[in-house]
Amino acid sequence: MMNDETLDKLLYNYFGYEQFREGQREIIEDLLKGNDVLGILPTGTGKSMCYQLPSLLLDGTVIVVSPLISLMVDQVKQLKQQGMKRVVAVNSFLNPQQKQQVYTHIDQYKLVYCSPEMLQNDQFLQVLKEKVSVSLLVVDEAHCISQWGHEFRTDYLKLDETLKELKEPTVLALSATAPVHVQDDIVKQMDRPDMRKHIYPMDRENIAFTVEHVAGMEEKIQRLAAILNTHSVPTMIYFSSRQWTEKAAYELNQRVEGVKVAYYHGGMDQMDRLLIQQQFMNNQLDVICCTSAFGMGVNKGNIRLVVHAHIPSQVESFLQEIGRAGRDGFQSVSLTLYSPGDGEIPKRFIETELPTEEMVSNAMRYLQSLSNKGMYIPAQTEDIEETLQLSEVQWRFLSYQFEKHGLIKGRNILIHQGWKEAYYSILSFIQERTKIKQNKLAELLHWVHSEKCLRSTLYSSFQASLKKPTGFCCDRCDFRFDLWTTSNTDKRSELLNWEEELQKIFLQGGSE
Ligand SMILES: Nc1ncnc2c1ncn2[C@@H]1O[C@H](COP(=O)(O)OP(=O)(O)OP(=O)(O)O)[C@@H](O)[C@H]1O
Ligand SMILES: [Mg+2]
Ligand SMILES: [Zn+2]
Repeated sequence: MMNDETLDKLLYNYFGYEQFREGQREIIEDLLKGNDVLGILPTGTGKSMCYQLPSLLLDGTVIVVSPLISLMVDQVKQLKQQGMKRVVAVNSFLNPQQKQQVYTHIDQYKLVYCSPEMLQNDQFLQVLKEKVSVSLLVVDEAHCISQWGHEFRTDYLKLDETLKELKEPTVLALSATAPVHVQDDIVKQMDRPDMRKHIYPMDRENIAFTVEHVAGMEEKIQRLAAILNTHSVPTMIYFSSRQWTEKAAYELNQRVEGVKVAYYHGGMDQMDRLLIQQQFMNNQLDVICCTSAFGMGVNKGNIRLVVHAHIPSQVESFLQEIGRAGRDGFQSVSLTLYSPGDGEIPKRFIETELPTEEMVSNAMRYLQSLSNKGMYIPAQTEDIEETLQLSEVQWRFLSYQFEKHGLIKGRNILIHQGWKEAYYSILSFIQERTKIKQNKLAELLHWVHSEKCLRSTLYSSFQASLKKPTGFCCDRCDFRFDLWTTSNTDKRSELLNWEEELQKIFLQGGSE
């Protein structure tokens, strides 16, 4: 068995870190003993290490299930920079030839990143089953199982089957933002009741919180322009719509001198998205106006300010998003700009995300009529969505539910007595999910309007006590945005020449 010293040495030799951070050693030791682990550690504290280091020690392959392509690409890049070459991300970026190449040499890799959808791909699964022995399956950002799995990424709920296919490897589920009911859901969905829980408080002691109430969107843009004029720091600004990211980026570029602002959202071409992400990571861009498509897992040390120009629909997403700030440990700020009625956007989103009662019954009637005519479910899901007037998410949700209730299997329709019961069961599930989401939104809205300490209110449903903030707490306690100076962490995008770089080091010398 590994002793403490050996792990320390490995950490230093491979990653250059002197010591483990809170939780890392405990999790790694448990994994090496073959125990399943649920690890909840705050954003930015090094969850990736909990599987990266074991991948060097374990025989066989470590699979990392990751929700976003951009996240996989970024992590693979960072690992390669650190000298770990035997890592690959299997995703739609690979052309057929590259994919074939990776499949042929899959046993050469220690770490294989992929999406949950990829694990449902027969060819990929077959390659894994035939060519490698999977020692550890990691679910990074494991709250996605619970947060997205039930609705639009139902392949997250099939990981338990995949584990069986892969001969039951050890499991590591990681998240920074999983309250107790989500933790329980993860354990249940993965079907690993004996998971060891390593749960640490999620509060980030170097982020100060502030909420400003403004009249509307124009005032938000004005405020943002004023802030960027006085605080030129790497900044992320979250919006609820793609259009707003573009519009705000345009406005801010117009109104703020010498700051490079770009936008990022899910409607952009994958390549453009990666480019923007890379430029931001390399400090060639100062400000990103983005939707929630940007963020999860993104590891840029010096983001000082995360603004929510629109609030998300739940505290977990909010915590993920602010979790991009201050990963280098220096004082950073979360600013929420709220105007009356802002809660309506996420509210509408929640209401329309899942199918209505009528949609469910229409879909079921449609399937029965296909079956009466001896037909199969159309291969093109777009055709079904078109016929039934469903969004992609709604049909994905329904087809998963129909399959789960045994009404369909693949493209086959299975007519039997249980349809009525299934109908009511699906409806009540929709109600239940909607209720959960409404409650989560209410929790965030409550926070926005809270008169008490923003920090303690924000984390109250996650943990009993808080760490002491390293700097400011929140605007209800000791923080005022306009008094916040960022001089010693001020980083403009211009690539500094070496003289400036040196000067900067001297000017900063000893201050931190
Ligand atoms: N023991 C350590 N000592 C110092 N730095 C470390 C240590 N372990 C990890 N790090 C560094 O911490 C940074 C953040 O790590 P990582 O991206 O794994 O965070 P995370 O917990 O996955 O965050 P998120 O929840 O946002 O995904 C990385 O730059 C990583 O190299
Ligand atoms: Mg991470
Ligand atoms: Zn406070």
